[in-house]
Amino acid sequence: MSRLIVVSNRVAPTQEGSPAAGGLAIGVLDALKETGGVWFGWNGEIVGHAQPPSIEKQGSVTYATVGLTRRDYDQYYRGFSNATLWPTFHYRTDLSRYDRQEYAGYLRVNVSFAKQLAAMLEPGDMIWVHDYHLLPFACALRNLGVTNPIGFFLHIPFPVPEMLRTVPPHEELVKCLCSYDLVGFQTESDRQSFVDYVERGGFGSVSEDGMMQAFGRVLKVGAYPIGIYPDAVAQAAEQYAHRKPVLALRDATRGRQLIMSVDRLDYSKGLVERFQAFERLLLHSPGLHGRVSLVQIAPPTRSDVQTYQRIRQTLEGEAGRINGRFAQLDWTPIQYLNRNYERNLLMSLFRLAQVGYVTPLRDGMNLVAKEYVASQDPSDPGVLVLSQFAGAAEQLPGALVVNPFDLTQMADALARALAMPLKERQARYADMMARLRANDLSTWRDAFLDDLRHVATAASVTRKA
Ligand code: ADP
Ligand code: G6P
Repeated sequence: MSRLIVVSNRVAPTQEGSPAAGGLAIGVLDALKETGGVWFGWNGEIVGHAQPPSIEKQGSVTYATVGLTRRDYDQYYRGFSNATLWPTFHYRTDLSRYDRQEYAGYLRVNVSFAKQLAAMLEPGDMIWVHDYHLLPFACALRNLGVTNPIGFFLHIPFPVPEMLRTVPPHEELVKCLCSYDLVGFQTESDRQSFVDYVERGGFGSVSEDGMMQAFGRVLKVGAYPIGIYPDAVAQAAEQYAHRKPVLALRDATRGRQLIMSVDRLDYSKGLVERFQAFERLLLHSPGLHGRVSLVQIAPPTRSDVQTYQRIRQTLEGEAGRINGRFAQLDWTPIQYLNRNYERNLLMSLFRLAQVGYVTPLRDGMNLVAKEYVASQDPSDPGVLVLSQFAGAAEQLPGALVVNPFDLTQMADALARALAMPLKERQARYADMMARLRANDLSTWRDAFLDDLRHVATAASVTRKA
């Protein structure tokens, strides 16, 4: 068995109360625990000067983590990754900016991570790189002479070519992506956008089996939608039902219906539109006043990036305005909490809610949508209202799928969800649960790693011939 080396910028925090990890760290941690292996990445700290990785073993996983200097953090993480790539890949070119120095820093950190990892590699190791911070990582490793199989998985959307071309070094980035042996996306449409960029740009072509020839290399490109472990989520939701915060929420909303949303406080999540659609629901349904609450849990994230400071201010303003407009002495329509919860506890909170309200403007997958479904009580399940622009929408047709830019449609979907008869709720839940089980987290990991192994073996046979 070859050793699995996972590389990502964010490594799952090992302590409770750490910043919201996001889908990548949650998914990778669960997937890696079972196979065992090494996880290389940033330890979340800013350091005075670069140091070799610190190594810590926890169960089957060895963590090799490094700090970032202030300059690296500013240019690579806060700059090019989160102020250029993140907004553009989420179709927000209006929020994206480009700075050559930051891009140079992005490349520099990729090279420095690659050098540190290369020193730890053994010949049979399989390397699995994650997300937009590390698009050029394979280029950097190949330049150091590393010939191990290297796969890449993008957790966020891949934009259509017109959008990608707004990032000035787009061609160099795509060329580097083609240095991987396997490039995986969340959905078929993300995969297609990548293929379109390569083919329409005249850089190469792809055959029906997903093999791509581009920039003088052969690689595979595929869609591997990330999943969860639905039965483990269901179990956690049940087991944590008697914890204090869960009981507190249950008591506070007794006699009322509950709509629940949980996201990092990110402008891609459509939080403002979501609040406004809820406002519209209240406006058109006076009968719901005092009888329904929206709980939005949204811990701050990347708060030193300006666009994130702005969304926070806007949202606080909207929550205050809507509450001021509709609140009664014994009812606050929107409860807005900027904090983290232990993940299992969160699943119990989902179970209390009649509606899971998940409406990103763009999202690679959105694990919260899947977790909400899996947390439900099968005998009395809630309804998922889900944006058509989340990768999860391709996989959860049992949700009420909405366009998050259409506030009236969202308000109507909320009304329909709140009034949905039990039989219909059960049928939708059963359908979605079956899909979650058939495509769980191990399916994602195994499909990706099997393909990586396969492509790498074929490539080495070709090299020898
Ligand atoms: P993203 O990766 O963009 O943050 P996802 O919905 O795919 O979005 O993944 C978010 C993950 O982080 C989920 O597993 C969710 O349960 C977890 N999470 C989100 N918000 C919180 C929170 N306030 N406290 C604890 N975990 C959270
Ligand atoms: C999303 C991204 C991840 C990232 C996470 C949290 O899930 O796809 O790559 O780790 O958000 O963001 P952060 O910037 O705190 O790592």
